[in-house]
Amino acid sequence: MRSGTSRFRLSAFGGSGMLAVCGLLLVAATGCGRTSPASFRLNMVEATKQRLTSAQEQQVATILLAMFGTPDEPVCIPEAGLDEAKLRLAAGPVRSDIAGRKNGLYREHCGHCHGVTGDGLGPTAAFLNPYPRDYRPGVFKFKSTERADKPTHDDLVRILHNGIVGTSMPSFALLSDLEIDALAEYVKYLSIRGETEIELMRAFFELDEEDVGKLPETREFLVGEMLTSVAEKWQAAADAVIAVPEMPGDIDLVASIAKGKELFYGDKANCVKCHGVTGLGDGQANDYDDWNKVIVQWSQEVAGDQDAAWVARASHVLAGDALRPRTIPPRNLRQGLYRGGRRPLDLYYRIHAGINGAPMPAAAGTVAPEDIWHIVNYIRSLPYDLDGELGADRPMIAKGD
Ligand code: HEC
Ligand code: HEC
Repeated sequence: MRSGTSRFRLSAFGGSGMLAVCGLLLVAATGCGRTSPASFRLNMVEATKQRLTSAQEQQVATILLAMFGTPDEPVCIPEAGLDEAKLRLAAGPVRSDIAGRKNGLYREHCGHCHGVTGDGLGPTAAFLNPYPRDYRPGVFKFKSTERADKPTHDDLVRILHNGIVGTSMPSFALLSDLEIDALAEYVKYLSIRGETEIELMRAFFELDEEDVGKLPETREFLVGEMLTSVAEKWQAAADAVIAVPEMPGDIDLVASIAKGKELFYGDKANCVKCHGVTGLGDGQANDYDDWNKVIVQWSQEVAGDQDAAWVARASHVLAGDALRPRTIPPRNLRQGLYRGGRRPLDLYYRIHAGINGAPMPAAAGTVAPEDIWHIVNYIRSLPYDLDGELGADRPMIAKGD
C-alpha cells in the first residue's frame, strides 16, 4: 500500500511526474531476465465509441499506469480501498518464491478465460457459452446485494469457491482460503481499474474548451472525482445486503408451492413471460445481456455512420476487441441448476433483486417480501413436478442459442 501511495503522489500533481512514474514502473516490471512484462489492454470499444484521438488514448493509458500499475506490478492508492499484499499474491507471472509460496494466481487460473485485463477476452473466451465475464463495467450477477449494487467480498469468495454450475466457470475449492481471498481482491482491482478507465474515457466529453482535449492530471480530478466514485460503490456493498424475512412458518409446503405457482403465472411477477408456461425457459428468449447489448447497439451505430474513416477503425475494433453477440436464454427451471447457488437463500436473492446485467428483473416492489419465499418453494419443486403438465411434444431442454 505504502509504495503505491508514494508513487502515485509523485504523479498526481504534474505531467512530468507522471512520466517519471511510468519509467519507474516499466523498469520495475521488466526486472532482470524475466519474461517480457505483461500489459493491460486498453478498452478499445469504449475509446472508439467516444471517438478519442490517439493522444487521448495515450493519456488514459498513462493515467491508468500511474494509478493501477501493470499486471506484474499492481499499484493501489488508498482511496481504491484494496489490499496490495493480496493483489501481489494474485498478480504477476506464475511463479513461487523461496518458501514455495505462489503468486501469479490470476494468470494461472483465470487469465485464459477472463483475459489478463479482466476484459473477458482471454484466448479461450470465444469458444465458451456464456462468455467469461468482462469485469470492466463493474457489473456482477450472483450476489447478496440489491440489483445495482456491487457484490460483497464474501459474494466473490463464494463464487470462486463454488464456481458457476452450468457454465465453464470452474470451482476453485482446491485452492486455499488465502488464495481465494487474494483472487477475489484481484477481481475487485481489475473491476475498479476497468470502471475508472470507462469514466476517464467518458470524461473527455465534458471537458471545457480551455482544457484543449486533455484531462486534468490533478489528484483532485483523478482520485477525487474519477476513482472515488467507483471505489465507494465497492465499499458500500457490505451495507447493501438484502434483508431477508423469515420463511413464513404458518403455511405448509404444499400450500406454499401452490401460492408460489399462482404468483409465477400472475401478471405481477410475470415469470411466465420469459421462463415459459412449462418453466422450460422457452418464453421470450431474444434478449441480450448488458455486455452483448453494448456490442449489438454499437454495431448498428457503426453501420449507420457516414464517416468512412471512423467506420473502418470501428469495424476493426469490433472484429478484434469484441466477441460475436449472443442472446441470453431464460433459465430452464426444470433442471434444478442454479448458477448463483442452490441454497433457498440464493434463490431468494435472485428473485428479489433479479440478475444484474441480465434481462431477469427484480420481483422486489411487485411481490411482497414474504411471498418471494413461496415463489422460491415453487421453483424448487419444479424439477420434481412430473404431473404430465409438460405435454408430450415439449422437449425437456430449453431452446437457446
Ligand atoms: C474456463 C473458463 C473460466 C475460468 C478458468 C474462470 N472463469 Fe470466471 N467465469 C467464466 C464464465 C463463463 C463466467 C460467466 C458465467 C455467467 O455469466 O453465468 C464467469 C464469471 C465469473 C465471475 C462473475 C460472477 C458474478 O457474480 O457475476 C467472477 C467474479 C469470476 N468468473 C471470477 C473468476 C476468477 C477469479 C477465476 C480464476 C480463479 C475464474 N473466474 C476462472 C469462465 C471462467
Ligand atoms: C424478462 C425476462 C425474465 C423474467 C420476467 C423473469 N426471468 Fe428469471 N431469468 C431470466 C433470464 C434471462 C435468466 C438467465 C440469466 C443468466 O443466465 O444470467 C433468468 C434466470 C432465472 C433463474 C436462475 C437463477 C440462477 O441462479 O441460475 C431463476 C431461479 C429465475 N430466473 C426465476 C425467475 C422468477 C421466479 C421470475 C418471476 C418472479 C423470473 N425469473 C422472471 C429472464 C427472466
